[in-house]
Amino acid sequence: MSFLKTRPSVQTIPATSPIEEILRILHRDGAIVLSDYCTDEEVDALNAKANVHFERTEKEGRGEDSFFKNFRASHTTAAYDLIGAAPEERKVWHQGKVFVHESADPTSVMEEFLCHEVWDWLGEERVTRKTGYWLHTSIAYKVGPGAGEQVLHRDINSAAIQRTGPESLTNGVSTFVAGCNVTAENGGTHVAPGSLAIWLSNIFHGAGANTLDPSHPDALRIIYGFFACGDNFRQGEITALACKPEEFQKMPPEILRLLGFYRGKSGGGALAGRDPIDSWEGLKGYRGGEWLVNDA
Ligand SMILES: [Fe+2]
Repeated sequence: MSFLKTRPSVQTIPATSPIEEILRILHRDGAIVLSDYCTDEEVDALNAKANVHFERTEKEGRGEDSFFKNFRASHTTAAYDLIGAAPEERKVWHQGKVFVHESADPTSVMEEFLCHEVWDWLGEERVTRKTGYWLHTSIAYKVGPGAGEQVLHRDINSAAIQRTGPESLTNGVSTFVAGCNVTAENGGTHVAPGSLAIWLSNIFHGAGANTLDPSHPDALRIIYGFFACGDNFRQGEITALACKPEEFQKMPPEILRLLGFYRGKSGGGALAGRDPIDSWEGLKGYRGGEWLVNDA
């Protein structure tokens, strides 16, 4: 039996690194941190929206909502539906390379890990198709001093696939945008505000304890979780119902697809048998730019 001589660490590289380098590290380690993924202004704007979202969530008694009992530590507010609370701040999470690929890049992180090629027989013809992905959940987290360690776990359990060892299917990719200075003392891998942490759903992980004094400037660990899953799995939140129509009207087709206006590449999620982006009146013919609404 051998033991690790050093603590395993998550490698941090600049968000401007080539997609090939990001994927190489993710394939090797299952996790990575991209520094300077968002600007200070983008993080500040999201923090302001999240403050309102935290207050409303706590007031309505939803701050401790969780599918699994005791899944999160005490002193933690988990505010679901971050997209609905901050629809115009989407640049924070969909910036190039991760949720959508940049025009010069051959792929994105989500495409690499969530799009699986499957084949089947249609009569005597062997047909292959590739699955897609969409946003599973968006959650703002506020973790205060006194929070203990989170239980070790793997993500996207709602897909209900039986996991065994490391060979288990990667059915989700999880991301955290740091809204504050995340440190080992307040319970996380050390990352600066605006950094993006990425890990695969079949990687065991768990947040650390927040041991800071409440008077410390970094006492609250604020992070924003954006989780994606394969489009053959159901979304954790029906994001297509999260925003008012006028907010959706500002979004380009690739974002609308991420939010669920989408017939998955596996074939599920159609409206009237077709892609909702082609079937739903408000989206009919929409390919970005000016929104085409049929008033007739
Ligand atoms: Fe997790």
